[in-house]
Amino acid sequence: MAKPNLRSLDKMKFTKVIPTRNQKISEAPAKVLPPLSSYKANEIAAALHPSCQYLKVARVIDEMPDVKSFILVPDADSGTQSLAYFSAGNYLSIKLTIGSSVITRPYSISSSPKESLAGEYMITIKRTEGGLASNFILDSWQVGTKVTASAPLGDFTYEPLRDAKQIIGLAGGSGITPFRSLAKAIADGDEDAYLTLLYGSCTKAEAIFQEELEALANSCDRFRLVNVLSEQPADACEQGFITAELIGKYAPKSGEYSIFMCGPQAMYEFVDKEIATLGLRNKFVRRELFGEYRHPEKDKAYPGCKDSSFKLTVRICGEAKVISCSVDDTLLVAMEKNGIAAPARCRSGVCGWCHSQLVSGDVYVPKSVDGRRMADLQFGYIHPCCTFPLSDITIDVPLFQA
Ligand code: FES
Repeated sequence: MAKPNLRSLDKMKFTKVIPTRNQKISEAPAKVLPPLSSYKANEIAAALHPSCQYLKVARVIDEMPDVKSFILVPDADSGTQSLAYFSAGNYLSIKLTIGSSVITRPYSISSSPKESLAGEYMITIKRTEGGLASNFILDSWQVGTKVTASAPLGDFTYEPLRDAKQIIGLAGGSGITPFRSLAKAIADGDEDAYLTLLYGSCTKAEAIFQEELEALANSCDRFRLVNVLSEQPADACEQGFITAELIGKYAPKSGEYSIFMCGPQAMYEFVDKEIATLGLRNKFVRRELFGEYRHPEKDKAYPGCKDSSFKLTVRICGEAKVISCSVDDTLLVAMEKNGIAAPARCRSGVCGWCHSQLVSGDVYVPKSVDGRRMADLQFGYIHPCCTFPLSDITIDVPLFQA
């Protein structure tokens, strides 16, 4: 007897789905369903993924000159009763109004996930030369300041199905923040992983959270801290930069490990070349990118342009606004400078939140941050957060994201 054709059977079942469902609906007793918000699943989803969180600064900690940590708690008066839980490595997209500009900036949560259950997030910010948002926060936030933040976001997190259990963390400067969270999560037993952290600084005095991380490393055998100092040698520290040789020295002998990196752009440029020599599979190299892209003239693929600025027409919220966009700025930065509250989260071409349609004009997108899918390329979509102008441009920014 011939075997039944499973595909046909399945197809037949499928063709009956809609009529069967319609019949069940027509036969169902007419009764008013409870509101959607009363379902437990919806309640949990809303708690874990709020569209935004209203917070306030509860404490300010001076970590060192020009570095402060801000403890953020729910602002019940504004409507947030509790904090969304997160995974170590997540960030908050913080909304700021500076002068006539409305901007967002991503900041890694430096506290442990466990602390969010107790009602606190911590973000740690370092002053940087010309750093618009960071310097604004350092100069103006104080106890009681109200803060609007996204839900915890990002994928710079440990995923057991993808990542090796042994993690080599490479941190530079304030890129230490997600690693503080990860080290604490490991010590708390919330992450089943091992972290060896190579922390690059000029001098030991410039390394943030030093005493705390040393104490954590002494109390948790799954966390190891190695300071890598480029300018001033110190006891029990490595001297120089984070090289392939140094990574090899601390990597597990089994060869099975993941690299997690977070630091300034200059660190990636150097360390990426070193990592390339290690022969690791792509999935074992993870980067946190908080894009503040400089002019891409150093990119070999950048075609260059004679003009210093172009006309950018932004079609948003049913209006067309015409602004000037410098060749040094991304389209997102140009919009923010001109008071357009454009949607943005990661600012690195990763999350897709700024996804907009390029209606006309030529643009340059650095390959290293081009996170668009093939369909985006085919239908002319761009991520303004990492797109530079090469001519006059018109873009459509979707209404639902603004
Ligand atoms: S803000 Fe995330 S891709 Fe642009």
